[in-house]
Amino acid sequence: MILSSNHPEADNRKDLFKTLTPQWIALLEGEVNRTSNLANLAAAIYGAFEWHWVGFYEVDERRDELVLGPFQGPVACTRLRHGKGVCAAAWDTMEAQVVDDVHAFPGHIACSALSVSELVLPIIVDGHVVAVLDIDSAKAADFSTADVKGFDRIVNYVASRWNHWE
Ligand code: SME
Repeated sequence: MILSSNHPEADNRKDLFKTLTPQWIALLEGEVNRTSNLANLAAAIYGAFEWHWVGFYEVDERRDELVLGPFQGPVACTRLRHGKGVCAAAWDTMEAQVVDDVHAFPGHIACSALSVSELVLPIIVDGHVVAVLDIDSAKAADFSTADVKGFDRIVNYVASRWNHWE
């Protein structure tokens, strides 16, 4: 994991998170369908930032894999094996992964040749990862620890609602 905490856009994004997070929560508050909520959240994040791909992978316990959930961006890998790639690292470690250059990440799964840096946040419910939020950028080192902090609130909100959603 490569962390960069002094990304040039960090301050600008910090302000954006302050404005956008309450809007994202409001968007999800009235609906109990999980697919609808994750789809709208992926679209809202994708629409707010110029990232290459934004979406969710959900844990498929029966197959011990991550399976593609709602997303925005180009067609992506449907299933990701346990123990391989950035999303699986977030699943295994239960910690956010900030990767400046995915090509330098051992075992990275290249769903799109255009992805260069990546941010993955686990969604943890009752001590287990149920899904990850995966964000890919076509720019190198596009994510910082400030982005992890920025997404914390919405990811925690999703986790808090997860079992109430149908
Ligand atoms: N790069 C990810 C795979 C998912 S796609 O980027 C959408 C990984 O290594 O886990």
